[in-house]
Amino acid sequence: MKLTLKVWRQANRTAKGKMETYQIQEVSPNMSFLEMMDMLNQQLMSQGIEPVAFDHDCREGICGMCSMFINGEAHGPDRLVTTCQLHMRKFNDGDTITIEPFRANAFPVIRDLVVDRSAFDRIQHAGGFISVNTSGNTQDANAIPINKTDADHAFDAATCIGCGACVATCKNASAMLFVSAKVSQYALLPQGKVEATERVLNMVKQMDEEGFGNCTNTGACEVECPKGISLENIARMNREYLSASTKG
Ligand code: SF4
Ligand code: FES
Repeated sequence: MKLTLKVWRQANRTAKGKMETYQIQEVSPNMSFLEMMDMLNQQLMSQGIEPVAFDHDCREGICGMCSMFINGEAHGPDRLVTTCQLHMRKFNDGDTITIEPFRANAFPVIRDLVVDRSAFDRIQHAGGFISVNTSGNTQDANAIPINKTDADHAFDAATCIGCGACVATCKNASAMLFVSAKVSQYALLPQGKVEATERVLNMVKQMDEEGFGNCTNTGACEVECPKGISLENIARMNREYLSASTKG
């Protein structure tokens, strides 16, 4: 396949970025999108041009690092996959592909396609954990019966990989799908009940302080989420928040 790539280049956080156009040839339809980017970088380096900086780690849909906005969609045109799981067979010979970083005020560009998503870490630190009694008298978690439906929903919420596609896709740059997945993961389990009130209040407060926008229920986040995180989690978080606010 021959492709024209329009790629966002930005030297650093404060530099003015711009789209650069590159031609690439002999791309196999069986390559992953990141392998195609590796190929582009080999080509650029052989021409004495700085390679394109992009984030990646696991390359198998687990770490959530490979944040790219491809042809106007977070993680590109496929569904329920991350950029590293996207294959070039989703494109056609002769296509022009536009590649940008995830854009949101709370995710500043560090370089080219790499953005700073530490805002998500700070939201997690604000409440995305449980405190465990390590006195030696701790009850075995397996000894606590949990309703199968609750266990399934908690597990589904826990599959959020913190990639940020929900934020990049949302016209308000809202982080509600991410935060609600993290809140739901614990809200549905007995182990999460102990700190439930502080958790939802603190995580939502941190989310607001980081500058994410408000949710207006467009549902775009759910469509682009590579892990299929459901909007039901946002509804659950809103109920948790209302309940915590009245207690507080
Ligand atoms: S909710 Fe989905 S899109 Fe948002 S961070 Fe989690 S996995 Fe990524
Ligand atoms: S590189 Fe880990 S999810 Fe894509």
